Amino acid sequence: MLSWIVCCLMWLISSLAEGCSKLPPVDNSVFVGKEIEGQTLGIYLCIKGYHLVGKQSFVFSSSEELDVSLPECHLGHCPNPVLENGTVSSYGPVNVSDKIMFKCNDGYILRGSNWSQCLENHTWAPPFPICQSRDCEPPGIPDHGYFEGENFTSESVVTYFCESGYHLVGIQKLQCIDGNWNSSYPTCEPIQEASKPAEQIALEKAIHAFQEGKDLCSATENFVRSLKESGQTMEELKYSLEIKKTKLKEYILSKYK
Ligand SMILES: *[C@@H]1O[C@H](CO)[C@@H](O)[C@H](O)[C@H]1NC(C)=O
Ligand SMILES: *[C@@H]1O[C@H](CO)[C@@H](O)[C@H](O)[C@H]1NC(C)=O
Ligand SMILES: *[C@@H]1O[C@H](CO)[C@@H](O)[C@H](O)[C@H]1NC(C)=O
Ligand SMILES: *[C@@H]1O[C@H](CO)[C@@H](O)[C@H](O)[C@H]1NC(C)=O
Ligand SMILES: *[C@@H]1O[C@H](CO)[C@@H](O)[C@H](O)[C@H]1NC(C)=O
Ligand SMILES: *[C@@H]1O[C@H](CO)[C@@H](O)[C@H](O)[C@H]1NC(C)=O
Repeated sequence: MLSWIVCCLMWLISSLAEGCSKLPPVDNSVFVGKEIEGQTLGIYLCIKGYHLVGKQSFVFSSSEELDVSLPECHLGHCPNPVLENGTVSSYGPVNVSDKIMFKCNDGYILRGSNWSQCLENHTWAPPFPICQSRDCEPPGIPDHGYFEGENFTSESVVTYFCESGYHLVGIQKLQCIDGNWNSSYPTCEPIQEASKPAEQIALEKAIHAFQEGKDLCSATENFVRSLKESGQTMEELKYSLEIKKTKLKEYILSKYK
């Protein structure tokens, strides 16, 4: 720490230190410099009651021509507070230890601390809050799905639907609460192939049994026995085959008309 040079004194007395002569003084500030391996690291510090606007620290070598825009020290110990979409209890220049309060405009919700204090080191703590809109962004749209609802203001609800052949996985209704949807949006997943009906399984089994038969007679016996075992009667089977036949006919007719 001892190797730091406080330049305001040098500027007043003389410009002996190489680093100090390079950077001109700034009103209401002190310049603190340090030599590191042929380079000078310098920072401007505003005095009490002033805060810095612009770049605070500079690194330069003594041979280098300096072309920098200097900072300024403005009245007020900490930067003047601003709050987008809200109001601050005091906007003017502040003194050290001053406390300010924050309020958000209608339709905005305060996220963070509703107060802050100007500290000795020219910073505010706790950090400034933000005013977040109470309206939500349009919610996401799942592949093969959509939502109904055009209002994204707080309390509004949107409802999700899937295209046919897809079913909804997740929560169907989302509600906007103070700028955030109350859950993530659902997805649309393909509906699994319906499992084969019992009568089709029975028929497949019976056909298999038929094919196992050594001759037509035993094959037919196998077929009927297999059907009986699965609880299907010949009548039921005939009926379901008739329906299939009709459907197939309609299908073929519609295709080759
Ligand atoms: C909120 O702040 C932004 C940025 O300053 C501004 O563009 C917007 O109009 C403000 N909203 C309202 C409702 O005042
Ligand atoms: C800051 O302090 C000065 C002098 O102590 C006083 O005149 C001024 O009103 C104070 N400013 C605020 C914002 O309190
Ligand atoms: C600030 O927030 C605190 C709690 O976080 C609350 O009790 C207080 O009423 C608020 N003050 C104002 C002015 O909104
Ligand atoms: C300012 O001082 C506070 C409290 O002493 C400290 O927490 C904070 O880190 C300091 N900020 C900077 C930029 O030095
Ligand atoms: C959205 O909902 C709010 C609150 O229910 C209502 O005041 C507003 O008119 C609605 N806006 C639209 C575009 O429907
Ligand atoms: C979100 O809000 C909707 C509508 O009020 C509700 O049906 C849903 O259960 C809520 N979701 C969660 C995760 O709370």
